[in-house]
Amino acid sequence: MTDAPEDAVARIVELKAEALAAIAAADDTPALNDVRVRFTGKRSVLADLQKGMRDLTPDERKERGQALNSFRAAFDAAYQAREEQLAGAALAARLEAERLDLTLPPRHRPRGRPNLLTQVEHEMLEVFIGMGYRVAEGPEAEAGLFNFDLLNIESDHPARQEMDTIYVAGFDDVVLRTHTSPVQARVMAVQDPPIAVVCPGRTYRADAVDATHSPVFSQVEGLVIGEDITMGDLRGTLLAFSRALFGADRQIRLRPSHFPFTEPSAEVDVSFDGPGGNHGWLEILGAGMVDPNVLSMSGIEPERYAGFAFGIGIERVAMLRYGVTDIREFFEADARFLAHF
Ligand code: PHE
Repeated sequence: MTDAPEDAVARIVELKAEALAAIAAADDTPALNDVRVRFTGKRSVLADLQKGMRDLTPDERKERGQALNSFRAAFDAAYQAREEQLAGAALAARLEAERLDLTLPPRHRPRGRPNLLTQVEHEMLEVFIGMGYRVAEGPEAEAGLFNFDLLNIESDHPARQEMDTIYVAGFDDVVLRTHTSPVQARVMAVQDPPIAVVCPGRTYRADAVDATHSPVFSQVEGLVIGEDITMGDLRGTLLAFSRALFGADRQIRLRPSHFPFTEPSAEVDVSFDGPGGNHGWLEILGAGMVDPNVLSMSGIEPERYAGFAFGIGIERVAMLRYGVTDIREFFEADARFLAHF
């Protein structure tokens, strides 16, 4: 520092004005930091003027010291004020950018729901679970042993053809189950009476598709075995079921029928009141007393135990209950149909 001491004091006053202007002009924190380095850093003019103090007379030193203090005080105050200002502005900008508008209406998210068939299946199972039944399930690709043989349907029995069985290629005697009765055969094979099970699930038959037929459909079948089980128990059970599903005023009627695994067998109709005072009967299921031969094939003594069984088509119940006139509606996955229920 070679300037005369008075020039140095004037220079400090000038520097103060320059520094305050630079602080005011810094428009973000990094720029402000640059100002500090430029005016007060180790290699700044100010640092040189400070170092030069030791070469001064006491009076000169005092004068320059006051000038430097005044610079420092003004600089620090302005710097701190600007720093706070810039930090406040940065925060405000961030809050603005990340702002959530809590008054916006929520976006509509459509919700899925179980298919009508699933709903009806659950409703049916609820009724039986309420009566003390257990739910049992089995495979859809089933051994002929369970689908036919143990149910009294021998290999030359016409029912094998009537059921339009779909065989699984490459396997000996494996079919897509034509009913859920094989699950009952599986339960009887491992469980001793008393037995009360319902068996829901998909079933398959090589039927051509039309308004009332589908090669894939579903059933809930039931089986009860115990001592002193009678046809009266079957009737009471099915009446309670029909009333739970279709209405408390319903009646049922049993018509003689034939199934290889039950004797006697019945088709069961439920009463309905149609439009215009129309009364009538609608068939809803097949049922019967378990054939003694079926019991003994499963190792259950027919002299001691008796049982009943029934098989209900879930599609049929859903169609009657909800006025669906075409079975294909259940499988076509048309969102408008599905959203209806
Ligand atoms: N398994 C029979 C069917 O699918 C229904 C049925 C079950 C009939 C139990 C009587 C007893 O056609």
